[in-house]
Amino acid sequence: MDTFSTETSEKNITDQSNITFRKPVATDGHAVFSLVERCKPLDVNSMYCNLLQCSHFADTAVVAEQNGDMVGFISGYRLPHQPDTLFVWQVAVDSKARGQGLASRMLHALLKRHQHVVHHLHTSITPGNDASWNTFRRLANSLGAPLNTSELFNREQHFGGAHDSETLVHIGPFMLFAQE
Ligand SMILES: CC(C)(COP(=O)(O)OP(=O)(O)OC[C@H]1O[C@@H](n2cnc3c(N)ncnc32)[C@H](O)[C@@H]1OP(=O)(O)O)[C@@H](O)C(=O)NCCC(=O)NCCS
Repeated sequence: MDTFSTETSEKNITDQSNITFRKPVATDGHAVFSLVERCKPLDVNSMYCNLLQCSHFADTAVVAEQNGDMVGFISGYRLPHQPDTLFVWQVAVDSKARGQGLASRMLHALLKRHQHVVHHLHTSITPGNDASWNTFRRLANSLGAPLNTSELFNREQHFGGAHDSETLVHIGPFMLFAQE
């Protein structure tokens, strides 16, 4: 992964015990924009898009905070025609907080919030994003659920050659509450 080697050298916050999770609110929009901007190779969206994620889609998003700073964020939504499926749009963990399972803990917190209605997870990953692949493979293992892939958006056909292809990752079915 292109940014992996440089960012590993910055690690990391030593103690994550005081990180708290919450739903975002609209006033988080600019902090989300800034976090995503720092988390390459994520695509930066408009700040307006981040505001919508933090308001209309707050129920399917999570903020991780430490000492008042946003160190993690996940955006997502339930598929309009498959409401039992959570689409995870972006996962961002500040470089100084990486490598300690924060992304996994945020994903589990989000799934737990929707445990009675969500039994599948979709996300899309570019082929070279090793950290992201590792995160979602580990999630599938911890859920005891199959992970299947197919092409979601093609570099030439959908992105006009301007972006790597995005692979659809489908994890599920899973029954979170049955494991507790
Ligand atoms: C992908 C990402 C969310 C993972 O967050 P995280 O909290 O570090 O996740 P984990 O601690 O579970 O580690 C996941 C993987 O990250 C990689 N990793 C480990 N330490 C790392 C560090 N210090 N810095 C960067 N990546 C690291 C490893 O591949 C690890 O998998 P492994 O433990 O099986 O080897 C984070 O690296 C990130 O924000 N990356 C930039 C944005 C992005 O690519 N988002 C995903 C697309 S949706």
